[in-house]
Amino acid sequence: RVRVAVLISGAGSNMAALIDAGQRPDAPYEVVLVVSNDPDAGGLAIARAKGVAAVAIDHRPFGKDRAGHEALVQAQLAAAETQIVALAGYMRLLTPWLVGRWADRLVNIHPSLLPRYPGLDTHARALAAGDSVAGCTVHLVTEGVDEGPILAQAQVSVLKDDTPTSLSQRVLAAEHALYPEALARFCIDRFRP
Ligand code: GAR
Repeated sequence: RVRVAVLISGAGSNMAALIDAGQRPDAPYEVVLVVSNDPDAGGLAIARAKGVAAVAIDHRPFGKDRAGHEALVQAQLAAAETQIVALAGYMRLLTPWLVGRWADRLVNIHPSLLPRYPGLDTHARALAAGDSVAGCTVHLVTEGVDEGPILAQAQVSVLKDDTPTSLSQRVLAAEHALYPEALARFCIDRFRP
């Protein structure tokens, strides 16, 4: 099975969906490591409860030294013999060094229908624009933020009385279905002999 590491910063609900799918008998991948840049991320305990090694590497002591922080992240990835890195609510920008190190093996989920709404506050922006559909995108990570090739997307309807919170909950449910599916497909395609 393809060895996947998941990088998180928070609740880790996408991470949990990835772990659960990877623990099914026929899964093409397994999550072998979770890394959080925030020691208080709720996802760390969830990962451990599911039997997955989870480590916090706090970025704050590094200040502006992104490379220093990433060197420790990379050391963990290497020690776990990681083959694919999946970002799941990882709210740190990666340096070109780490992106290059994992080129074509680094995926992300973003809560909008890219190329619409890269960056933050995607749901509020979709509502402000009057969009009737919203959704999420799984894509390869390249140096440009939320710009890499799209692997898969899922759409949800925007409802009349939606708030950013209600829309985010509908999109998040779609993310939990889309991400494991897209990651499994990517692992099969990427590592097919
Ligand atoms: C998800 O909606 C994910 O798409 C988004 O953060 C949330 C994390 O939730 N990611 C980004 O905004 C990346 N810029 P989770 O921790 O429960 O998976």
